[in-house]
Amino acid sequence: MKTILFSAVWLCAAAALASAFNPLHHSGPAAPYFDAPSQAGIPKEIPEGCVVDQAAYIVRHGARYPEPGSYTGWISLYNNLQNSSTPYNVSGPLAFLKTWVPPVDDPAHMPLYLSGVGALESFQLGVLLRNKYKFTPGGGNLTVWSAGQERVLATAANFLRGYLAQGSYVNNATLNRGSIVSMPDSVNWTSADSLTFTNGCPNYSKGDKSGPMKSAWSALWQPRVAARLNSLYVTGNLSFTGSDVSVMGDLCGFSAGVDGDTRFCDIFTPSEWLDYEYGNDLNYYYGSGPGNPFAGTSAWPLVKSISDLLVAGPGKTLAPGTFTPSPLIMSFTHDNDLPPVIAALGLWNSTVGVYPLSNSTRSPDRDFRSSYLVSFRGYVALERLNCSSPSASSRKGTYVRVQANSAPIPIPGCTSGPGSSCPLDEFSAYVQARQAVVGEFVSTCNNTAANATQGAVVDFFMNEDWEGSMSRGQRILLGVGDLVGLGS
Ligand SMILES: *[C@@H]1O[C@H](CO)[C@@H](O)[C@H](O)[C@H]1NC(C)=O
Ligand SMILES: *[C@@H]1O[C@H](CO)[C@@H](O)[C@H](O)[C@H]1NC(C)=O
Ligand SMILES: *[C@@H]1O[C@H](CO)[C@@H](O)[C@H](O)[C@H]1NC(C)=O
Ligand SMILES: *[C@@H]1O[C@H](CO)[C@@H](O)[C@H](O)[C@H]1NC(C)=O
Ligand SMILES: *[C@@H]1O[C@H](CO)[C@@H](O)[C@H](O)[C@H]1NC(C)=O
Ligand SMILES: *[C@@H]1O[C@H](CO)[C@@H](O)[C@H](O)[C@H]1NC(C)=O
Ligand SMILES: *[C@@H]1O[C@H](CO)[C@@H](O)[C@H](O)[C@H]1NC(C)=O
Ligand SMILES: *[C@@H]1O[C@H](CO)[C@@H](O)[C@H](O)[C@H]1NC(C)=O
Ligand SMILES: *[C@@H]1O[C@H](CO)[C@@H](O)[C@H](O)[C@H]1NC(C)=O
Ligand SMILES: *[C@@H]1O[C@H](CO)[C@@H](O)[C@H](O)[C@H]1NC(C)=O
Ligand SMILES: *[C@@H]1O[C@H](CO)[C@@H](O)[C@H](O)[C@H]1NC(C)=O
Repeated sequence: MKTILFSAVWLCAAAALASAFNPLHHSGPAAPYFDAPSQAGIPKEIPEGCVVDQAAYIVRHGARYPEPGSYTGWISLYNNLQNSSTPYNVSGPLAFLKTWVPPVDDPAHMPLYLSGVGALESFQLGVLLRNKYKFTPGGGNLTVWSAGQERVLATAANFLRGYLAQGSYVNNATLNRGSIVSMPDSVNWTSADSLTFTNGCPNYSKGDKSGPMKSAWSALWQPRVAARLNSLYVTGNLSFTGSDVSVMGDLCGFSAGVDGDTRFCDIFTPSEWLDYEYGNDLNYYYGSGPGNPFAGTSAWPLVKSISDLLVAGPGKTLAPGTFTPSPLIMSFTHDNDLPPVIAALGLWNSTVGVYPLSNSTRSPDRDFRSSYLVSFRGYVALERLNCSSPSASSRKGTYVRVQANSAPIPIPGCTSGPGSSCPLDEFSAYVQARQAVVGEFVSTCNNTAANATQGAVVDFFMNEDWEGSMSRGQRILLGVGDLVGLGS
């Protein structure tokens, strides 16, 4: 009776919160893409009187099937449910578990591959950016850059199909106008000149303190949730552990991204979802974000290269470059390559009472949110604003705004422009000054490769034959690669 009463009260509370609280917006890297909420009160709209004349995006691949390690966890949960040697019952939000089957029906082919939701997210970004910027008139073409693993290339290809639309032929692929420069993925010999630059920084893994920090936090909250679920909803000889709770948390976002099933999202309370999210924040903050002293180091050359392109402006090639990138500079990569960009830019790392992130207390005030950055198809974008018709909110000039998942992020000490943007010349100086904070790539990373110095300069955006000149990758014409099976 007591239990029933308690459950009823909790259900009412949950119903009241349901409209406001969406677990998928607190699922870190497992969440399908969603727009992050505005930050620091900065509006998302392009400031009045300004146009974006150039933009650079660094994008995580779209929603995918699990990696083999996570998949093993799903199967182990499934086997425990199916193979319990004695009878048990599960009720309430767990009732579905008796008949639940993991959402992977072709295990040999699906691990790590883009899901249908991931393909949709990628296509939608293409449509969105074409319409937002209007950089590419009908008949125009676009070259994008992508780390070489299948799910990343598939994201780039789906993006191009959405972006080019009428330039995407099925029956005569040689007419297509999209090209993907497929870059070696997770190798160390490309040093910084890569979209998986942390692999070129030998010290990076030494700076990764995410394991112990996340474990300390998991040991606090996961057993508490397991105990609540076991006491409220499980009878018989079955009991969930902290690691089951971890798997259930991942299955909220992953199931939504694989086949649209959101039943796992109903298992935790809002406060428990915030605990789950915080574990992901610790993982990325200390693993690949500002809490790893070598994360910013490894991404700085990429950030510098983008900053130089924004200073040069659209339609300009940088010496000794041979290629003029489109005003829309698109790069596709992995989750762990986005937080280093945030670290290189010095964002989300304010010291006001919050940093470093505690491994025992969730700080509600922290800026660093994995859910707002490394969700599937999450991104960091840098937009160059040309504000030529001054209005109440804009002054004539050229400015830069940085966004994560659509929300502009203030650049520390540089928010004097329209929409809290940073004047271009100040931005350029700011990026240059960040090198002293994060350290020069070769020396700080202890990259002792013979050709490391060359690799510490990112030039792939401006190099006509970057991939071919040193056999570093391949260029895939949209559609043609699909037909001949390139890019595995
Ligand atoms: C249950 O246990 C058996 C024997 O260990 C195993 O073959 C099977 O795959 C397990 N899982 C399910 C869902 O039956
Ligand atoms: C567009 O295609 C032309 C002709 O092949 C090429 O010279 C140019 O570099 C391409 N531009 C982009 C941005 O891919
Ligand atoms: C594809 O388009 C090219 C260029 O217009 C043309 O030369 C070629 O004949 C076409 N191929 C086919 C199979 O239609
Ligand atoms: C948790 O944080 C405290 C305080 O910073 C630190 O002393 C401790 O070593 C951390 N625990 C782990 C397991 O990293
Ligand atoms: C499961 O529920 C059924 C129906 O309420 C009940 O008869 C049975 O005893 C329960 N079994 C366990 C192990 O709790
Ligand atoms: C409960 O299950 C465990 C393992 O599945 C088994 O070893 C144990 O004997 C069971 N206990 C009872 C009371 O059935
Ligand atoms: C993050 O903030 C801490 C504390 O101020 C600082 O030591 C560290 O260098 C910052 N990290 C980055 C990447 O800027
Ligand atoms: C900004 O746009 C205006 C109007 O198109 C143009 O005349 C001006 O040259 C642009 N400024 C810069 C810095 O590109
Ligand atoms: C890089 O790691 C080495 C240990 O392999 C260490 O001696 C060195 O100080 C590190 N570099 C920096 C800048 O911390
Ligand atoms: C740098 O890395 C090399 C291996 O590549 C190692 O032998 C050397 O001890 C490291 N030096 C420092 C200062 O970290
Ligand atoms: C890359 O990693 C391999 C294997 O750890 C190592 O032998 C090699 O020296 C590394 N190369 C560079 C350029 O760091």
